[in-house]
Amino acid sequence: MFPQRLAQAAERIQLHFDEVLRDLSPEPVVQAMAYATQGGKRLRGFLVLESARLHGIDAARAIWPATAIEALHAYSLVHDDLPCMDDDDLRRGRPTVHVKWDDAVAVLAGDALQSLAFELVSRPECGSAETRAELALSLARASGARGMVLGQALDMAAEAATTPLNLDQITTLQAGKTGALIEWSACAGARLAAADPEPLRQYASALGLAFQIADDILDVEGDADKAGKRLQKDAEANKATFVSLLGLADARARALDLVEQASAALDPYGSEAETLRAAARFVIARDS
Ligand code: IPE
Ligand code: IPE
Ligand code: MG
Ligand code: MG
Ligand code: MG
Repeated sequence: MFPQRLAQAAERIQLHFDEVLRDLSPEPVVQAMAYATQGGKRLRGFLVLESARLHGIDAARAIWPATAIEALHAYSLVHDDLPCMDDDDLRRGRPTVHVKWDDAVAVLAGDALQSLAFELVSRPECGSAETRAELALSLARASGARGMVLGQALDMAAEAATTPLNLDQITTLQAGKTGALIEWSACAGARLAAADPEPLRQYASALGLAFQIADDILDVEGDADKAGKRLQKDAEANKATFVSLLGLADARARALDLVEQASAALDPYGSEAETLRAAARFVIARDS
């Protein structure tokens, strides 16, 4: 069952975080890093572990990039919640880092989580020097000014825009802010095996968009207790989303379509990829 597979991956990643952060100092910034890495669905880490399994890569190796992407994702959330960005006080059912500590600690904890991610993919446990360089280079591209950060910048800029973004512009925005890290995660297994990541890249490109559409739908009609974050904020903030452009029904239809596309992209892997197909279905059915 998919929820159990995801929960197993989440537990594994949490244990690894505990180990990695164990000998760091009791400074507030370090406490905040540990706090920010707790909870969450661990979908990105799961995608790393599952794409690695598909390529015959040992979980003992794949856990390093899996933990790395969850550290990078946690950084993106800590900064996304800051008052200068989405100004949120609740994340994963708990006060956000800048609320529990302060803005400076949140900025620095985010910075350090980003550095930690690159440290983890550079560790010898990940494989050869070439593999590690490839993981780090691709992660830099996915997370920076042509990936997640670009998407976040477009998201913030759209709040102030006087004319709504069109479908292409929203697709570009979301492919950056959410798609790039999801794509990196799904391709990681192929990279660890020095195999062609193209089918996984196609899978993840559809999956990433479906994932963000589901997030935008959750914002409109989700249950805040289950989601663990404030909802009904996007419209008020004038966020550019598929829901704002297409409306709920069309956004939902598009997400379903994307899940079909994601599944079809896995054809080269046959039935071995069934868990990744289940992940795609989960992404649009989730309530958190
Ligand atoms: C939330 O990501 C931020 C988006 C990119 C939409 P997740 O929904 O994966 O958050 P966690 O990690 O499970 O808390
Ligand atoms: C966050 O997107 C994306 C990143 C952190 C890169 P959202 O702003 O939509 O995520 P939530 O709704 O706060 O989780
Ligand atoms: Mg945001
Ligand atoms: Mg946000
Ligand atoms: Mg959102």
